[in-house]
Amino acid sequence: MRRPIIAGNWKMNMTSAQGVRLVEELKPLVADADCDVAVCVPFTDIPAVSAALKGSNIRLGAQNVHFAENGAYTGEISAQMLKEFGVEYVIVGHSERRRMFDDTDEVVNMRMHAALAAGMTPIVCLGETLEQREGGETEGCLSYQVEHSLKGLDDVSKIVIAYEPIWAIGTGRTATAQQANDTIAYIRKKCAEVFCPKCAEKVRIQYGGSMNAGNCKELMAMPEIDGGLIGGASLKAADFAAIVRYNK
Ligand code: 13P
Repeated sequence: MRRPIIAGNWKMNMTSAQGVRLVEELKPLVADADCDVAVCVPFTDIPAVSAALKGSNIRLGAQNVHFAENGAYTGEISAQMLKEFGVEYVIVGHSERRRMFDDTDEVVNMRMHAALAAGMTPIVCLGETLEQREGGETEGCLSYQVEHSLKGLDDVSKIVIAYEPIWAIGTGRTATAQQANDTIAYIRKKCAEVFCPKCAEKVRIQYGGSMNAGNCKELMAMPEIDGGLIGGASLKAADFAAIVRYNK
């Protein structure tokens, strides 16, 4: 049995003070969660949110990490810098970074390995564009991403995968539960081929893309969907808590 994981991706929202207020409101609402809960916050929010989360069941995540241990990389943040503040999860390869900041599969792969080497769990995002979906290229795209973004993993179950169809992100257009389930099943099958069947059975694969309080129950009821990576709906405590408590 895979333990579900619901993570918020705040993206470039919430100042540190706003972030602390949000998690203070969130903590009592999700204290009885049956799944793993995390918030992936902007770098500058990390120290204060980390302190605010102490003693709670909410884990802390970041939204990116540089692949080098240290050095002349102006403006970048290393895995050790995150680790020092108790960061446990790091999103890598989000489609917004792939699209707007040129994160190639090779770079995503290096970031993933840097997070793992520091003892953090990378949440690696995969997903197809609308053109790829409509052109029947979804499986080809995901197959390429599994092979290249996840290259060199000895055990794929050490990471979390987030399947985020790009056409469903921030658009209000969710994949149907069946579409999401079938595509995640394909990712798992590909992982079984590239890595091993046992670790593919174990790896948690989230769905992300306009997941909200209204559609989370149906999505989470699907056998292949092991959680959610939540953008917009993670910015309001009540909305995010309703997703975390999808089974209550
Ligand atoms: P939305 O939930 O706002 O569609 O964002 C999804 C996402 O990109 C999470 O990483």
